[in-house]
Amino acid sequence: MKVKEAFKIKENTEIAKNTFKMVLDVDNLFKKGMKIGPGQFVNLYPKGTYLPRPISVGEVSKEKGTITLIYKVVGEGTRILSRLSKGHSIDTMLSLGTGYDLELKGNRPILIGGGSGLPPMIGLYKELVKLGAKPLVLLGFKHTTDVFGIDNFDKNDLYLSIEGPNEPKSDENTDFTCKTKAMLKENIFFEALPHEVLKKLEESGVIKDITGFAICGPEAMIKACGAYLSEIGIKGEVSLEARLGCGFGACAGCAIPCKTEDGGRTMKGVCKAGPVFKFHEIIWE
Ligand SMILES: Cc1cc2nc3c(=O)[nH]c(=O)nc-3n(C[C@H](O)[C@H](O)[C@H](O)COP(=O)(O)OP(=O)(O)OC[C@H]3O[C@@H](n4cnc5c(N)ncnc54)[C@H](O)[C@@H]3O)c2cc1C
Ligand code: FES
Repeated sequence: MKVKEAFKIKENTEIAKNTFKMVLDVDNLFKKGMKIGPGQFVNLYPKGTYLPRPISVGEVSKEKGTITLIYKVVGEGTRILSRLSKGHSIDTMLSLGTGYDLELKGNRPILIGGGSGLPPMIGLYKELVKLGAKPLVLLGFKHTTDVFGIDNFDKNDLYLSIEGPNEPKSDENTDFTCKTKAMLKENIFFEALPHEVLKKLEESGVIKDITGFAICGPEAMIKACGAYLSEIGIKGEVSLEARLGCGFGACAGCAIPCKTEDGGRTMKGVCKAGPVFKFHEIIWE
């Protein structure tokens, strides 16, 4: 079901530096039977811009009739979005793309989200927990001031990789270090990239019983973490953030090279066949 209409904004607040949480009221579509799941995305149409801005679906609540999006302000479109207040409407197309296959993950998957790749992990985590799984979560951020969304996960199974050092240089950092360190104790790794943290977790036996993986974030992070987990025999899916044109399969502008089952090569559109792909299906160039 693909629909484009204006939806009311129930919340649009800054939850970390330049990072906003937008809650949309889509109750009328849930009542018509709309399905939308983790890994799928919506196209937002900020006024005065030409192309849509694709944003992943975070949390989905049929009970409240809402979907939650989390976006980083990086350019003109997201800046316009960040200025919208509760009660305004935003033209939105949904449900777009192919999301995560929940069946593939097993009962102890690892979910890895980096930066703006974190939001889909919130929805995926909640759906997997509903199915009885106990996911392990690894989230990567550049700096302590970029951290958001960690209260959505069980702190006993949550690990953070912070690219920068653990040196409180401002009140904000001191605050982060006190609050988050108290919560996560030894589960925060400073000056370490997510694939380096994976290695440490493997060495300490934390990921020995992992049954599958899901990764969303910058391409370099996806490649490094996916390759590491594949090498130790774990299979999984990844969500790509290609530059999109139309965002719904009409312009052929988002094709990436993939392997066919017989070892050949084919092109697949990120906006329709993806953004979620099996890691081993993608030809990384
Ligand atoms: C499937 C998918 C899901 C995404 N989910 C999220 C999310 O949950 N949270 C989040 O913060 N960001 C997400 N992004 C990235 C987000 O779409 C861009 O950051 C946003 O479109 C930038 O728009 P802008 O006008 O502010 O920036 P500008 O750089 O000014 O954008 C100019 C143009 O480039 C396109 N564009 C720019 N960056 C990207 C990008 N990384 N991917 C695709 N198109 C881009 C825009 O649509 C626009 O047409 C996602 C991207 C994709 C493809
Ligand atoms: S963005 Fe137009 S076909 Fe994918």
